[in-house]
Amino acid sequence: MTAAREIRLKSRPSGLPVADNFELATVDLPAPAAGEVQVKNLWMTVDPYMRGRMNDAKSYVPPFQLGKALEGGAVGEVTASGDGGFKPGDLVQSNFGWREGFNAPAAQVQKLDTNGLPAQAFLGAAGMPGLTAYVGLLKIAALKEGDVVFVSGAAGAVGSMVAQIAKAKGHTVIGSAGGPEKIAFLKEIGVDHTIDYKAEKDLTAALLRAAPDGIDVYFDNVGGDHLVAALNAARPFGRFALCGAISMYNATELPPGPPNLMLMVGKQLRMEGFIVSSSWDMMPAFHRDLSAWVKEGKVKWKETVFEGIEKAPDAFVGLFKGENLGKMLVKLG
Ligand SMILES: NC(=O)c1ccc[n+]([C@@H]2O[C@H](COP(=O)([O-])OP(=O)(O)OC[C@H]3O[C@@H](n4cnc5c(N)ncnc54)[C@H](OP(=O)(O)O)[C@@H]3O)[C@@H](O)[C@H]2O)c1
Repeated sequence: MTAAREIRLKSRPSGLPVADNFELATVDLPAPAAGEVQVKNLWMTVDPYMRGRMNDAKSYVPPFQLGKALEGGAVGEVTASGDGGFKPGDLVQSNFGWREGFNAPAAQVQKLDTNGLPAQAFLGAAGMPGLTAYVGLLKIAALKEGDVVFVSGAAGAVGSMVAQIAKAKGHTVIGSAGGPEKIAFLKEIGVDHTIDYKAEKDLTAALLRAAPDGIDVYFDNVGGDHLVAALNAARPFGRFALCGAISMYNATELPPGPPNLMLMVGKQLRMEGFIVSSSWDMMPAFHRDLSAWVKEGKVKWKETVFEGIEKAPDAFVGLFKGENLGKMLVKLG
């Protein structure tokens, strides 16, 4: 029997989640049954989309269940195995995050070959957030030569990959993020023009200062005022990849939509929302390109790490307060 702690959803948040919405519990894990593995998690991710799963609302993923452990990406090590395909010491990825360890059918974990990268990179730059950047830019926005690219949330997990992929492909990139430390990071990764949106009263004016001739692609992580500004600054035939709208995830009442949406008609814009899981088939191509970009020094990443399962709720809430530079992670092992 092995004890493992986990974070459960105690109550559904209204607005920004608070400590009382979560509870820390301990479970005893028996030896894994035939066909099962026992895994000790080393890293787990917290991601903005998890906020939506805390609501009792129908969406593209089912809501988290009250009184049950939360779920999400994790990387761990097999500690005991009742399945011939796995042995102790194997590194695996799963969706059994928010817990220190678990037993699961072997089919619900995937062996992880890190190819020399740190294991936790597969929760960030080399994992779902990195692929999101790749899919949004190359497939949804259909990036083409000469495009001027604007990305919001540019110092985060997805945004910093968007900025660097666009730079690696030779584009002019404008990135917006909150605060001087994040702006300094954007400059370090080669972003051509930066906007500290927290220091700006008029985002449209700031964007037009950065891109006097307008933008061709907007990768939206934030929604709200950023989307309004991007519509104002878009050039004819611009493409908008709608990835997320974090400025609205804790809203108790949804604000009205962009008042300038009508600009889409005259400027003949295309706006498309997407969910990365519809494009998992692009992962091998993304990994090939990423590996070349890393070797050429064109892509790098930062992590903000909270330690210990008991800190996972703080790490999660920190996403909405801008406490992360790069990928927000929780180290468990
Ligand atoms: N469609 C998909 O398949 C998919 C997949 C992954 C992620 N996403 C979306 O992509 C976006 C970024 O996700 P991520 O994992 O990379 O998170 P992240 O950017 O690493 O972390 C969240 C960041 O959002 C910014 N933020 C928080 N509240 C904000 C507000 N009110 N206004 C402006 N910025 C705010 C903060 O940065 P600042 O300090 O700069 O404000 C914070 O650091 C999210 O909207 C997420 O839901 C979508």
